[in-house]
Amino acid sequence: MIQRKLEVTYLPYDRTTRVPAGTTVFSAAHWIGLPIDSTCGGRGTCGKCKVRVIQGRRDAETADHRQLRPSEIEDGWRLSCQARVYEDMTCEVPQLLRVPKAATMGLGRLVILDPNVRKVYLELSEPSMEDQRSDVARLRDALTEEGHDMVAGVAVLRTLPPVFREAGFRVTAVLAGEQLVAVEAGDTTAECYGVAFDVGTTTLVGTLMNLRTGMAASVLSTLNGQAPFGADVISRISHGMNGPEAIQELQDAVVGTMNTVLGELYRETGVTPQQTYEAVVVGNVFGIDPTPLSMSPFTPAFMDELSVAAREIGLQIHPHGYIQTLPALGAYVGADIVAGVLATGVAREDRIRVFVDVGTNGEIVLGSAQRALATAAPAGPAFEGSQIKCGMRATVGAIEGVQLSDRVELQIIGGDVPPEGICGSGLVDAVAQLLLAGLLEYSGRFKKPEDVPHHPLHDRLIDVDGMRAFLLADGVYLTQRDIRELQFAKGSIATGIKVLMDILGVTVDDLDEVLLGGSFGSYLNPESAKIIGLVPPVAVDRIIAVGNSAGEGAKIALLSYRERQVAFELPSRIEYIELSGRSDFNDSFISVLGFPQLAPIQ
Ligand code: FES
Repeated sequence: MIQRKLEVTYLPYDRTTRVPAGTTVFSAAHWIGLPIDSTCGGRGTCGKCKVRVIQGRRDAETADHRQLRPSEIEDGWRLSCQARVYEDMTCEVPQLLRVPKAATMGLGRLVILDPNVRKVYLELSEPSMEDQRSDVARLRDALTEEGHDMVAGVAVLRTLPPVFREAGFRVTAVLAGEQLVAVEAGDTTAECYGVAFDVGTTTLVGTLMNLRTGMAASVLSTLNGQAPFGADVISRISHGMNGPEAIQELQDAVVGTMNTVLGELYRETGVTPQQTYEAVVVGNVFGIDPTPLSMSPFTPAFMDELSVAAREIGLQIHPHGYIQTLPALGAYVGADIVAGVLATGVAREDRIRVFVDVGTNGEIVLGSAQRALATAAPAGPAFEGSQIKCGMRATVGAIEGVQLSDRVELQIIGGDVPPEGICGSGLVDAVAQLLLAGLLEYSGRFKKPEDVPHHPLHDRLIDVDGMRAFLLADGVYLTQRDIRELQFAKGSIATGIKVLMDILGVTVDDLDEVLLGGSFGSYLNPESAKIIGLVPPVAVDRIIAVGNSAGEGAKIALLSYRERQVAFELPSRIEYIELSGRSDFNDSFISVLGFPQLAPIQ
């Protein structure tokens, strides 16, 4: 049963959002991009987030009594980060007194800068016979005065006495959330870094972020060191099935790659591991057995976000630093999609949008702030160039774009090099062009050369081992079987989208945008994707490639504690739909195997 969402209205902005019961008023506002003032990021310690509850429940919590005056409580003022929505509410939000610092992210998103890692410079009073507080108590009291709670582990506590005395009790406390990560001599607030990792199947991207300015200090991408254990997730899972040592091998490979990237980022920027306090990681880097994912009922070991000490996996950031991962939405809709949804704002706006990450699985999220659904459609490896006769990965020599007129024009990765094969985006382009050129029927069958004797490209329709094919370049062709492979792959993803649209009760006309995520999505020609029926037939300018949205999401989570909370909440806001065994999936799949007969593209 779907729980009824509750309505919260914010005055004087007159903005309304609908949220599940139990959401804080603070989170709900953030969800719709309404900044409520805060310096503690919603932890109930800064007292800046107060709102006046005009209508709805207004129980006062302990933190309210600590931060607000009795007269304010009497008047209905509450800390929005503590007030939870249990019935429809209306609140008054004070105008922001200061313009919050913000960082611009890719995809045109502006993110208010409030990283989980904060540095606080403190001039502590020196101990005396009159003031014999312990070092920890001295530090805690000073932090409380600044509106911060603190929890400290023994490893950091050990460092306090020498640092305090060497620095004359002028120190900088580094907090990750409430956790004390370090105490540094003097004022080091100018140097505060974190790293965002997008661990893709093929590529690993690391971005060193300046947490004070919100700017990227440097970015580096490299091949994921797990590649030798298999090109895709399934073959890596098979490797992992060889036992704990094999799983350890996979983990060592990915952590090794991350450390290599970190080393390079440090070298380039002069930033040190000691100045890098947190890593937000999108991807499985903890060496957790992935094998249950490969068999029914496809249950992963965990789907929740994790916060783990960096030293536990040997990640070379500050020795007391942390790694934060993002949650997953389902067995095959992972943290990369949560990061993508965070970056694009899908499921947070009134617009109805569909986000598709095309790969071995088509991972799909459809919806708006009202309701959002997610699923994974098994597409097979065609889009990655596998099981295509002349298919190859998107590397130098791969045909990535095709244009057919009275001749064949090819776009090849690497520029002026001879074509060696065709990658996924080239395949989609080629098939779309063949349809437009009238050389391929909508059923997916190649025309015979004698059916199109006057077509300038009719002599490119050749026979390869008894199968019809189209010659793209010397030694590179597309066979009838390749076309079938593509039909199955695109049919599966298109059906996944259709099933979600049916459940949500929306039609193509209701769709405001189609967002193509993931590395493949960035290279895909939106028009070709539409022509082959991979995505719904909306106007081409509403099909948008959103680039490395997983990496952008990781950076956003690093720069903004509030946005990170939004990511943590996504699994409870987005309904996961399992496609296998659904009769509507099987029925629609057959119906969308052919190519759509679209009106001419404008
Ligand atoms: S008390 Fe700081 S955000 Fe609520």
